[in-house]
Amino acid sequence: MDARAIGVFDSGTGGLTVLHECLVTMPHEDFVYLGDHARLPYGPRSLDEVRGFALEIGRYLERQDVKLVLVACNTATSAGLPQLQEALSVPVVGVIQPEAHAAVQATRNRKIGLLATKATVEAGRYEEFVAALDAGAEFTALPCPRLVPLIEGDDPFGAETTEAVRECAQPLKAAGVDTVILGCTHYPLIRPVFQRVFGRGVTLVFSAEETAREVAGTLARKGIENEEAREGSYRFLTTGDPEAFRTLGQRFLQLPIAEVEHVELAKLKRAA
Ligand code: DGL
Repeated sequence: MDARAIGVFDSGTGGLTVLHECLVTMPHEDFVYLGDHARLPYGPRSLDEVRGFALEIGRYLERQDVKLVLVACNTATSAGLPQLQEALSVPVVGVIQPEAHAAVQATRNRKIGLLATKATVEAGRYEEFVAALDAGAEFTALPCPRLVPLIEGDDPFGAETTEAVRECAQPLKAAGVDTVILGCTHYPLIRPVFQRVFGRGVTLVFSAEETAREVAGTLARKGIENEEAREGSYRFLTTGDPEAFRTLGQRFLQLPIAEVEHVELAKLKRAA
């Protein structure tokens, strides 16, 4: 038994889609979630810069005495998962491997597509994981820079979002994929838009459920779960504006968000 909390981080509120699944899968665990709003978005940045941010946050969370760090951001996982695992003494779980695994299992024609941020596509980590599991699978990846701002905006289900989804779906449809990885924390929020554009014949894969299962499995294998009979708690930190986090965050988490605490960037930097 281990009563310590699980640390989760993302560039902003998108990772709350992953936290949501964790809270449902592990209702007896405590969670502390950090959103790096002051430096959002990570997607258009260089991989080196995002890796630096991830290391700062990972070390900060470790100092908060968490028992596991979950990188609930596809861009941060792409940029720095191995370096985080080297730097921290607690287990670190990312969101890419579970999705690549699910996609290889789901595809029937062995043609897999990826929609993600520019940095995630550039990093090529999904392609590596897919190839490690099925070297004969065809892989087509496309950056969708328009989507994150639209999903964070006032009208996530508006006509502009559908139009942006159509634009990025086109090359994947032309490649004949039957499975598409939604490789960004924000995309599951507009899943119906993707499903309608791609049609029922295409399987959409996203990380939240798979990742929550991986976290639960890691805790069980290492014998560091919390007491099953208890009800866990969850709390929030942001490097940005706590009120903005609360308002937007509820849309992503679909559960109540009470208080959000502000953390100065300087504090994160000191932890590193
Ligand atoms: N959280 C990022 C991801 O999953 C999307 C938002 C951003 O670009 O920071 O890739």
